[in-house]
Amino acid sequence: MKSLSGGVELPGDKSISHRYAMLAGLAEGTSELRHFSAAADCHSTLGCMSALGADVKIDKDVVRVTGRGPLGLKSSWLALDAGNSGTTMRLLAGILAGQNFSSKLTGDESLQKRPMKRVIAPLREMGAEIHGRDDNFAPLEIRGTKLKAIDFKMPMASAQVKSAVLLAGLFADGETSVTEPACTRDHTELALEEFGAAIEKHGRTIKVQGLAGGNGSGKLVAKSLDVPGDLSSAVFFIAASSLLPDSNILLHNVGLNPTRTAILDLFASMGASIQMLGLKSTQGEIIGDLAVKGAPLKGGIVAGEQIPLLIDELPMLAALGPYTEEGIEIRDAAELRVKESDRITALAENLRRMGATVEERPDGLKVAGLRAGKLRGAEIEPRGDHRIAMAFAVAALGAQGPTIIRDADCAGVSFPGFYTELRRLADG
Ligand code: S3P
Repeated sequence: MKSLSGGVELPGDKSISHRYAMLAGLAEGTSELRHFSAAADCHSTLGCMSALGADVKIDKDVVRVTGRGPLGLKSSWLALDAGNSGTTMRLLAGILAGQNFSSKLTGDESLQKRPMKRVIAPLREMGAEIHGRDDNFAPLEIRGTKLKAIDFKMPMASAQVKSAVLLAGLFADGETSVTEPACTRDHTELALEEFGAAIEKHGRTIKVQGLAGGNGSGKLVAKSLDVPGDLSSAVFFIAASSLLPDSNILLHNVGLNPTRTAILDLFASMGASIQMLGLKSTQGEIIGDLAVKGAPLKGGIVAGEQIPLLIDELPMLAALGPYTEEGIEIRDAAELRVKESDRITALAENLRRMGATVEERPDGLKVAGLRAGKLRGAEIEPRGDHRIAMAFAVAALGAQGPTIIRDADCAGVSFPGFYTELRRLADG
């Protein structure tokens, strides 16, 4: 394949869709969420909110959620199923901790292996009773209660943990604060503000008022909102276009929230040709178009406080390593080992299958660049991880010979139409 060309509509942002669905279920009235994500993960969140009594109507990518107010949820007979979605489980745990009923939260095999202590600990501090397997893993049993506000100094940079505590804070007496060790995506803060919660940010500390007795209105209001296109999905096309020299694509209405665009800065610093066009602000979020052309990439090192800002883009970046002049080195990213798969091992193993030179480290990996030789097509085992499957579909475009991606449909966890869209741009 020589180039990609044409326009791309991306699925709605996954992180934002989760948050809008949850807050709409806690608001009074009907919210209309347009361009809601098609990702299986976000539909797991909708399923949970519906099981908790919110009325959910889906019409293509428009989702209408009717909530009965913050204390209007009801207990579900069945365990709530978060599927493959860590965001669903961790954020919902925060909401369930503050209800006046008990819940059970479960998920698929991969999700049942992911650490939950990071949310169990602060929610317990707020007064919730939570049991999990080995005190760390789903299924989680949560006995909700009236919560007490805490000042939580977050030990790790995680937007999911921050969000779980802020959402629980809605059901606490007084003001709950979370201080982050490094900046993470701020969609929860922006969405809380949109739905009418009283929220403030001072440096790395975020404060939310409990709905009962705070200085907010005491309730959340239903909203009509547009979900921006998912930048984390856009990155696969940015990478593919960069590596195929004559490419010229236009990604429409991409979410460009500054807590998500570190990957674009990194691509630019490596020599990628990306232009931002028509930036505008919608409901606290920023959107714009991205014009991307083929360009040789230099490669480089990514580490430290950059990591939480581009954590989901690291699989694509690593898989691009062999196409860059100097290769790609990822440091300080041990979190990758507890994502939908152990992404460090999955990347190293599949890159080696394609003939790349890779050094696997406890907190990252070093992938040699162009001088180590061309990649060859291979059989890829994505370990059920959507981002690994898509990253290698892109890496395969520049390799010699065909690549087979097993269990390729796992891409649907975040991007159901991914391969069709890639094919269309290639034919473009
Ligand atoms: C997410 C936060 C990140 C990210 C995940 C989505 C979110 O996880 O990897 O895909 O929507 O808050 P952590 O908060 O665990 O880093």
